[in-house]
Order: sequence, then C-alpha cells, then structure tokens
Amino acid sequence: MLDRTQGLSLSVNPAAVPFGTRPLAPGMGMEIVGVDCAGEISDETFQRISDTWHDNCVVLFRNQSLDEEKEWKFARRFGETGKVHHNHKGGSKFPGVMYISNVRENGELIGALPDGEMFFHHDQCYIEKPAIATMLYAMEVPSTGGNTIFANMFAAYDALPADIKARLEGLKAMHVYDYQSNPTTRGAVIKEGTPHYAHPVVRVHPGNGRKALYVNRLMTDHLVGFERRASDELLNYLFDHSEQKQFLYEHVWTPGDLLIWDNRSCIHARTDFSAAERRLMRRVAIVG
Ligand code: SIN
Repeated sequence: MLDRTQGLSLSVNPAAVPFGTRPLAPGMGMEIVGVDCAGEISDETFQRISDTWHDNCVVLFRNQSLDEEKEWKFARRFGETGKVHHNHKGGSKFPGVMYISNVRENGELIGALPDGEMFFHHDQCYIEKPAIATMLYAMEVPSTGGNTIFANMFAAYDALPADIKARLEGLKAMHVYDYQSNPTTRGAVIKEGTPHYAHPVVRVHPGNGRKALYVNRLMTDHLVGFERRASDELLNYLFDHSEQKQFLYEHVWTPGDLLIWDNRSCIHARTDFSAAERRLMRRVAIVG
C-alpha cells in the first residue's frame, strides 16, 4: 500500500551548495539551488526566495525530500494554506494539501485531475479569493509527458498592442469551473450551480506593481457586459496571444522537483501522458 505521507529518499543535499539561481527559460521561471525546503530557512533567505518568485512567476527546487508536513510547513512561509475542492477519496490533515494523481487504490482514485492534457488556467479563479500560489511536488512521474507548461502573464500583457490594452481597461471576466465533470478541458455546457466569479481582466501584482493578464482558456467563460460573439472574439484573441511560445516555460518533471507558481502572474497547462503510467504529485494551495 502506498504511503503518501512519506517523502522521497534522495542522495543529493541541496543545502550543501550556496544559494544561487538559474533561469529556466528566456521568458520566465528560475531554478533556485542551495535550499533544502525541509530544513531551517532564515528570514533573509526566504526573502530572496520570495523576491525571485515574484519576479519570475515560477521557481523550481530540485532534489527535495518532503513528506506532507514538511511540504505544508514550507508552503506556510508563503502564506495561509487554503481550502481545496476535489472529488476524490484521498485527503490530508494539513489544510490546502491534496494529491494530483491517476493512481487508484482498491479501484478508487487517490488524487484529483487524474488524466491527460489540461488546458491553460489560473488555479481557483472561479472563487472570490483564489489561491495566490500553488506548490507542486513530484513523487512519481510518467516516462514521457505529463509536463506542466507555464505562461508569463506579465509579459503577455506588456506585449499587447496599445489599443487592446485600452479596451481591457476596467473590464471584468467571468470564470467558471466544473470540477465534478471533466475538469481538464472546457465543457460545452455549464451546469447550473457551477462555482463562478468575475475578476478584472488585468490585475496589478501587489508584490511588484506589474500588470498581468487574468484570463485563461479553461475557466474564463465571458467578458461581463459583452454580447457572446464579441466576448468570444476578444477572449480567443487573448488566449492565443498569451499561449505564444515566447511567454512559455515547459517543465519536464523528475521525482523530487518542487515548483511554486504565482497564480497572479502566470497560467499553467499540462501535456498528455499515458494512462498506463503512474503520476503522483502533492499539491498545496496558498491563499495569501
Ligand atoms: C494543476 O493544474 O494544478 C495540475 C497541474 C499538473 O498536474 O501538472
């Protein structure tokens, strides 16, 4: 029987090297080396981690060895850990902790979002106070695929033509998510009672004052106050614009990787993978 509370046993001690950073892609993302996320982290080092994260949308720590409690404790340095919505059996006593997995025990899924491709989205944008950050720790990964792709929404906003930026001023978009049916691709019909919330299309990041686009292909349904056709036209333009290659970083997972992404400044998606291979990730939602 799988013990999901355990971390991985890894031979590399990340704290044996000094704090350093390495860009993950030209458009976004930074690897941080020299930090053991399960160990003692001084306020000064944490401030460096936090600044690096705000400016680069995503940070990666490799070769980490984290059980549920250690991952949750590290997540708590970033803020309160929140409520999670899911429709699977497995759970955790630590608030905000859940599993993303296609693994079944006695025929039942132990994690959420089990299979295949996921469209780009911001976590929890369909509620009033979405998670500001998400932490994802890889425990088991398929031999190919199941990669997580991030898009830098600061850069996507900056690159918009001036007339589009002017059109977006003051607009709100309605975000909707049905996590009971297929949660990975957009449904054609939205069921009554599905969680939804309208947020500004452009948001200012409180950590650095930069503007970021806040719409995504999976969960953004319409622009508030627009006719459906006009809304679809502008939203499809924004989805295609923000998913361009120059704004992306695609992470190919190795067990022991810990990623933290900023839901205020990036969207993420997942590539397809074989249902015959196991994928087990532990996720913590940080609400601020
Ligand atoms: C998620 O959207 O939280 C899951 C991403 C992943 O499974 O890579």
